[in-house]
Amino acid sequence: MPTKYNLQLVLIVLCLVCITACNVVQTQSSKITPIVTLRSLAQARHFMFGTAVNVDALQHDKQYATVLGREFNTVTPENAMKFDATNPQPGVFTFAQGDALVAFARAHNMQVRGHNLIWHRALPDWITHGTFSRTQLLAIMKEHITTVVAHYRGQVNIWDVVNEAIDTNGTLRKSLWEKIIGPEYLDLAFRWAHEANPQAHLFYNDYAEGLGVKSDGVYQLVKGMVQRGVPIYGVGLQMHSTIVSPPSMADITANVQRLAALGLKVAITEMDVQMQKDPRPPAQRLQAQAQLYHDVLALCLSLSPCEAFVMWGFTDRYTWIPSATGNADEPLIFDEDYHPKPAYQVLLQVLMTSKRT
Ligand code: XIL
Repeated sequence: MPTKYNLQLVLIVLCLVCITACNVVQTQSSKITPIVTLRSLAQARHFMFGTAVNVDALQHDKQYATVLGREFNTVTPENAMKFDATNPQPGVFTFAQGDALVAFARAHNMQVRGHNLIWHRALPDWITHGTFSRTQLLAIMKEHITTVVAHYRGQVNIWDVVNEAIDTNGTLRKSLWEKIIGPEYLDLAFRWAHEANPQAHLFYNDYAEGLGVKSDGVYQLVKGMVQRGVPIYGVGLQMHSTIVSPPSMADITANVQRLAALGLKVAITEMDVQMQKDPRPPAQRLQAQAQLYHDVLALCLSLSPCEAFVMWGFTDRYTWIPSATGNADEPLIFDEDYHPKPAYQVLLQVLMTSKRT
């Protein structure tokens, strides 16, 4: 090889060593902005790398906003765009919290994934305590979807239209929507969302990541939608998980592939990794947690239909897991003081070495 090339190679290696070293020093001090971040690496790969956002924290915790803007190019409102938050009274719509997130995303050049339009939870009292005929509930659903999607048209172009409609046994969940409207509520929700924003990528979102009766149910549901020409774009795999019983990567891959064969995209939409009830010492637990984050991100990056990797928060300071499970936990990639955990470091490595372009 001519010496000119040898010299170039030496320079490139030196640069890489320098960047990595600087980055390690800098990520340890929250005051200095690191050169290489999860965001910068994801951006270079045109990959959506995101987190759910607690809008209260965004507005009151400066460090939260700093780390959010530095590490992510995609955001999902954790609660701010749900039915109870946006439509608290009949015909009344409140967008202040959602608008605050959209403004932050705009200022930081981030994508917003809207979450969610129709779910059996996060419903306001006027819906859960109301008595509606089928016609009335259809009108309410149409008004809700149309108003929210149109309000964010152009700024939120990805939506979880229906969330968790399949029960753990694989059948359609007996939600209020299903009981009063019937199974057609799903197709209608997607069609109305599409009418309100024809550009939007519309997702069905659920916790059915690997293989089993529930994901079979999701598969049959979305297959039917595709066959009926319903404007569904993709399936969100939530990925709330635990190191006590980690999901099978082979099963998730098989599930992604069968969904992709229908012409659908896939996104990891809500990943977090619980460590509670694991008997191993703390360092080993953190390592197991990092491994799981590593495996899921690597899987997503290696499968072209998987277009986004989103975690359900980024700092243990604001995770929903303790309130959901009743136990302390640390399921995210930054600790409560915004120090990067082993999981953060492995995600950096996975992005750095990914061949995705
Ligand atoms: C959770 C939020 O994180 C909590 O703050 C809220 O109290 C309940 O909802 N699946 C979903 C998310 O689709 O919307 C849920 O978010 C977590 C499970």
